[in-house]
Amino acid sequence: MLFSALISLLAVAAPALAQDSFVGTWSSGSGAVVTGSGFANPGNLSFTYPKNTGISYSFTSDGFYEIARYRFSSNASQPNCITGVMNWVHGTYETQPNGSVVLTPFGDGYQQIQNPCGAVSNFIENYNDTELLSAWAVYAETTGQRLYLYSYDGSPLAPQNLVSTTPNMLPTQRLRNVTGQVASSSGSSNGLNTQNALAVSGSERRWSVESAGLVGTVLAGAGVASLFL
Ligand SMILES: *[C@@H]1O[C@H](CO)[C@@H](O)[C@H](O)[C@H]1NC(C)=O
Ligand SMILES: *[C@@H]1O[C@H](CO)[C@@H](O)[C@H](O)[C@H]1NC(C)=O
Ligand SMILES: *[C@@H]1O[C@H](CO)[C@@H](O)[C@H](O)[C@H]1NC(C)=O
Ligand SMILES: *[C@@H]1O[C@H](CO)[C@@H](O)[C@H](O)[C@H]1NC(C)=O
Ligand SMILES: *[C@@H]1O[C@H](CO)[C@@H](O)[C@H](O)[C@H]1NC(C)=O
Repeated sequence: MLFSALISLLAVAAPALAQDSFVGTWSSGSGAVVTGSGFANPGNLSFTYPKNTGISYSFTSDGFYEIARYRFSSNASQPNCITGVMNWVHGTYETQPNGSVVLTPFGDGYQQIQNPCGAVSNFIENYNDTELLSAWAVYAETTGQRLYLYSYDGSPLAPQNLVSTTPNMLPTQRLRNVTGQVASSSGSSNGLNTQNALAVSGSERRWSVESAGLVGTVLAGAGVASLFL
C-alpha cells in the first residue's frame, strides 16, 4: 500500500490519469461515509452517524463541492481519551494553474466534537475553513475508479472509491443562517449523538490534519491504513 502511495505520488508529478476529472461522489474505506442527505442535516445541525469512520468528497462539473468526514483520534498522553469528530462543509471549488484546488466554503459548515475526557465532552461548532488540495489524481484500479487527494502540505488523504459519477450532494447553496450561537441543548454525554451536544458559539476549530493518525486503524477497509502512518 505504501508502495502504491509512492507510485501515485510519482504519477501526480507526471500525470497519467485514468480520468481528467474528479466530478462525482467518492468515499474512503468501506464506503460508510457518503456526502448528501444521509450524513448531515444542516437545518437542525444534526448528523446521521455512519457505521464506520471515513471521508467522502463530492464535486459537480460546475464548481461545487461537499465534504463529509468522520474520524477518531487519540492523544498520546491520554491514550484512553478518544476524540470523535463529525465534520461537514460545502461550497465552491476552483482548480488553480499549478494543479491545486481551492475549496471555499459557503459559511454553513459545522462539526461535532466528542471527547469524553474534555472539559466539554460533546459540542457542535461552526466550521468554515477554506481548504487547499495541493494535488489530485484519479486512477482506474481493479476495484474501479479511485480518487487520490493530497492535503495542503502534500500528505495523502485516504484514497476514495467512486460511489457515483452523478454527485450525491445536499443543495449547493447556503443551507442555514449562521448567527454565532450555533445551537443549544445540553446534558450528559451518553454516546454519539447530536442531541446531547453542547453548542459552542463564536469560535471555530480546524479540522486538524496532524491528529489523523488513529483514523487508519479504525477504518474498516484496512488497505488505507498505511497511508496515515
Ligand atoms: C434533523 O432533521 C432531519 C431531516 O429533516 C431529521 O431526520 C432528524 O430526525 C432531525 N434530527 C433532530 C435531532 O432533530
Ligand atoms: C493531550 O492531552 C493533554 C492533557 O490533557 C493536553 O494538554 C494536550 O493539549 C492534548 N493534546 C492534544 C493534541 O489534544
Ligand atoms: C498552488 O496554488 C495555490 C493557490 O494559488 C497556492 O496556495 C499554493 O501554494 C500553490 N502551490 C505550489 C506548490 O506552488
Ligand atoms: C466563510 O468563509 C468564506 C471564505 O473565506 C467567507 O467568504 C465567508 O464570509 C465565511 N462565512 C462565514 C459565515 O464566516
Ligand atoms: C436566513 O434568514 C433569512 C431572513 O430571516 C430567511 O429569509 C432565509 O430563508 C434564511 N435562510 C435559511 C437557509 O434558513
